[in-house]
Amino acid sequence: MLSSRAPETLADVIVPGIWDGLSVVPTTGTELAAVRDELITAGAGREMRLREALAPLLADYELVLIDCAPSLDQLTVNALTAADAVLIISQAKLYSLNGLDALLTTISGVRSYYNADLRVAGIIVNLYNPRTISARGWLDELTTAAHGRGLSVFEPIMNSRVVIADASEAARGLDEWGSSDARELADVYDAYLTATLEGANA
Ligand SMILES: Nc1ncnc2c1ncn2[C@@H]1O[C@H](COP(=O)(O)OP(=O)(O)OP(=O)(O)O)[C@@H](O)[C@H]1O
Ligand SMILES: [Mg+2]
Repeated sequence: MLSSRAPETLADVIVPGIWDGLSVVPTTGTELAAVRDELITAGAGREMRLREALAPLLADYELVLIDCAPSLDQLTVNALTAADAVLIISQAKLYSLNGLDALLTTISGVRSYYNADLRVAGIIVNLYNPRTISARGWLDELTTAAHGRGLSVFEPIMNSRVVIADASEAARGLDEWGSSDARELADVYDAYLTATLEGANA
């Protein structure tokens, strides 16, 4: 699939997820690091490998999420080349603002060369701490920068919440956690999904 040294197709490595209707293609990270290194010198077509690997499976799935590491390497370029839309997860921090610029430059490069129809669905601001003045300032900067580029910041933004870390450590959905604050947060993620699909289809 991604690596010319691996004979398996994507269909060979899909496993069922913990919820009905969810399938997962897990990696340990070290295999992907080897593929990333291989792609650097792979030559023509290297950006297309994930797109080509996904193509035969697309009819079987309603939505495919490609989780990217916070790095603008060949793996991310492969994901952007395969995608209809990008959902950007950011934080209200200086380095996130700089990262946003670098990501948008990469996205426009991918549009020019490999995937003209790639859209940005929107930006989720995660791990927000409303009690600090600096976070409020960076949120303003991020929102202004996003709007200046015609991008939407999804509302409400996501605060840093212990219940999110607890639920994910216990491998439970927020909708399964049982507390009312977890339920409310699950509704926010539902709203993000709706907004993402609308942005993706726009
Ligand atoms: N809003 C939040 N409040 C509290 N904890 C959070 C929040 N968002 C994420 N976390 C926790 O932070 C940890 C890392 O989250 P996640 O895996 O989504 O980050 P990531 O940026 O994708 O990391 P990586 O770069 O390792 O892929 C997880 O344990 C998750 O539960
Ligand atoms: Mg991650």
